[in-house]
Amino acid sequence: MSSGVVFSPYDYAVHTDPYPTYARLRDEAPVYRNDELDFWALSRHSDVAALFRDNTRLSNANGVSLDPAAWGPYAHKTMSFLALDDPRHNRLRSLVSRGFTPRRVRDLQPRILELARHHLHPALESGEFDFVADFAGKFPMDVISELMGVPEADRDRLRELADTVMHRDEGVFDVPQAAMEASLNLVAYYADMLAERRKKRTDDLTSALMDAEIDGDRLSDDEIIAFLFLMVVAGNETTTKLLANAAYWAHRNPGEQAKPFTDPARVTDWIEETLRYDTSSQMVARTATEDIALHGTTIPAGARVLLLVGSANRDPRAFDAADDYDIDRRTETPIVSFGGGTHFCLGAHLARLEARIALTEFVELVKSYDVDTDRAQRVHSSNVRGFATLPVRVESR
Ligand code: HEM
Repeated sequence: MSSGVVFSPYDYAVHTDPYPTYARLRDEAPVYRNDELDFWALSRHSDVAALFRDNTRLSNANGVSLDPAAWGPYAHKTMSFLALDDPRHNRLRSLVSRGFTPRRVRDLQPRILELARHHLHPALESGEFDFVADFAGKFPMDVISELMGVPEADRDRLRELADTVMHRDEGVFDVPQAAMEASLNLVAYYADMLAERRKKRTDDLTSALMDAEIDGDRLSDDEIIAFLFLMVVAGNETTTKLLANAAYWAHRNPGEQAKPFTDPARVTDWIEETLRYDTSSQMVARTATEDIALHGTTIPAGARVLLLVGSANRDPRAFDAADDYDIDRRTETPIVSFGGGTHFCLGAHLARLEARIALTEFVELVKSYDVDTDRAQRVHSSNVRGFATLPVRVESR
């Protein structure tokens, strides 16, 4: 039976609210085919979760985005292990994990708090500010720079470069020239930093990556640079969007908003429910390495397949009252916001820690806040979901 549902990740109506379309996909076309854009999409939680773990039938080798990539001759410098399959992926991820350890992230906690305060305090003093431009959009990149050992004097510049790397003009989904140039500048910066560390090691992540070794195998300079670049691409905008999505959805659900504001220990529940309800990374792409038969349809080998993370997290087959934003939610079903299987997000613990520290500081200093929803603006992106602008008015404690 053919379904009339149409889904394009480039549709502005989908960016405004993708969830009604996701619901129709799950019910009417769980193995959805878009002929025009030449992709397949899976939307049910059980399928998305299972296929994240299936590295036999799905490959990352053609990249994990549906958007046209145009990195050309620079690809080798920015090409990360996210776009490699095992065993090459596993080799790099294991080496990187020797340096990017949970302990290193834990030890960063006091600095993460200082960085959150550095941006949040002046914003709160003004009473009215843009939650994205003045706070959430600045803080995650500074944390990444801190981790890598980027000197403070260079951080504003690196933040601008990172923003340009991710920036897309309205309605343009391929990589603009300015983004490519910014990527090269970022890569050049990290190459210089690495050269400095070759002369003098410090105790930062960059030095730890240079020393990482498994049975005599080490990371090359290009591999370290590609990983530093991957951290920016994977860990900056996603965390920014998580923070602002949390502020927005709590505002839209005043009963829920009250919970972390009366008990800051509830901030972790607030973050988890935001990650489920409206996650910043809505989908990943894969390539089928063989025919995949599912729900009576066969996805042919070679096809591009989207795993719709945002839809899976709202699947009523997996979550009770899935469309309710409920920070009291207790569920056995894992959310898929950080992916799954061999490519499971390497920075999930860092993202959660940053969000907990930043939003705890927010609820401890703020009595109440309002979002100017008329002036709030969403980003238009095929997979990033969140706000470009989120004007707020706060009443401090
Ligand atoms: C991978 C989401 C924050 C580093 C992923 C994947 C998802 C994801 C869905 C899997 C992609 C795939 O399978 O194709 C998120 C979200 C974040 C976040 C929603 C914030 C709310 C971070 C941070 C870092 C980071 C803070 C580090 C600074 C990575 C890396 C990978 C990855 C390195 C690739 C892992 C691999 O290929 O083995 N992330 N991420 N992420 N993420 Fe995150």
